[in-house]
Amino acid sequence: MAGRKPKGVPAGSSRHSAMPQTPTRDAAETRTSTGSNGSDYLIRHTTLRQLQLLEAIVRLGSFTRAAEELFLTQPTVSMQIKKLSEAIGSPLFRQVGRAIEPTDAGREVHAACRDILSTLSNLEIKLADLKGLKRGRLRLGVLTTAKYVAPEILGAFCQVYPGIDVSLKVTNRENILERLMGHDDDLYVMGQPRETNDQIQTIPFAPNPLVMVASVEHPLAGRCAIPLSALADENFILREPGSGIRDAVLAQFASGGLVPRVRMQLGSNEAIKRAIVGGLGIAVLSLHSLTLESGGGRLALLDVEGFPIMRRWHLVYSRARELSLIARTFLDFAIDYEPEIRARLAEAEDNFARLRERLVAQSS
Ligand code: PGA
Repeated sequence: MAGRKPKGVPAGSSRHSAMPQTPTRDAAETRTSTGSNGSDYLIRHTTLRQLQLLEAIVRLGSFTRAAEELFLTQPTVSMQIKKLSEAIGSPLFRQVGRAIEPTDAGREVHAACRDILSTLSNLEIKLADLKGLKRGRLRLGVLTTAKYVAPEILGAFCQVYPGIDVSLKVTNRENILERLMGHDDDLYVMGQPRETNDQIQTIPFAPNPLVMVASVEHPLAGRCAIPLSALADENFILREPGSGIRDAVLAQFASGGLVPRVRMQLGSNEAIKRAIVGGLGIAVLSLHSLTLESGGGRLALLDVEGFPIMRRWHLVYSRARELSLIARTFLDFAIDYEPEIRARLAEAEDNFARLRERLVAQSS
């Protein structure tokens, strides 16, 4: 059924039935008779549920996925969007190839929906708060390097606020930036956005040291003060395009007039660790991804000139939308939690330093 239609086109209805091209006569006529505050027509002819549906379709880029998220059938979604479109007097979506996108009118309605829905969601929390109970939803987008701490912070947060549903999106820097621009989540843990502007709020968060990692059996694991040029002939495992770590590594090599010899590209920090242990090469990883291995595994940090690359995460959100009460509460909670993250990093650093001392002693 849904599978045979192009993505986003609602099953059980034609493209046009979901995306009317012209307003109905009734709608066009009645829309001119507005109430005293000028918005009476929309108040009488649209429903909050329709606005919620439109918000979900724009965010997810598909009628099908919006229907799934809101536990509705596709024909119901199509019918409601058709009614909304008639009330507004313009088509709200158009077909672009196999995808759908909002029309200009759709975008305007979407912007208004977000404000209305966010006000309602905050009201829900404030009312719930009055009853001594916080309820609602938190959408978090984090870098792959932050996935090693975000679930833990969320776990502690949800113990304090058990009524809150959380969704966590883990992806690389480029995708997080896209999500930030698309207002897909409430809050992000990411590096500093390159182009900061008034619309983006960034709050410095925990350090994110990027370290050079090799197998404990690697001959360089027992050496100190290795010049970067000594790595030029090593096989390198690099993250995928779009990764912030990848950009940082290439920039570091480029600053020394060098290019790493890339043997393999992998899109996962965990897969890279396995590849290093498997003897496929060396790589740069976030120290956060190595805290478990620091207790005695098969990975060592190399003492290379210019490393670790000292970076910092930021808590980031778009000012274009009011930060929900839940997101603000989580932000404060995460800031309070930061010392624990730093302590974990310091412990990992100490463990790896002790391991290096042993490896240096063995090789001399
Ligand atoms: P990423 O993370 O490589 O997954 O984009 C970047 C970072 O931690 O700075």
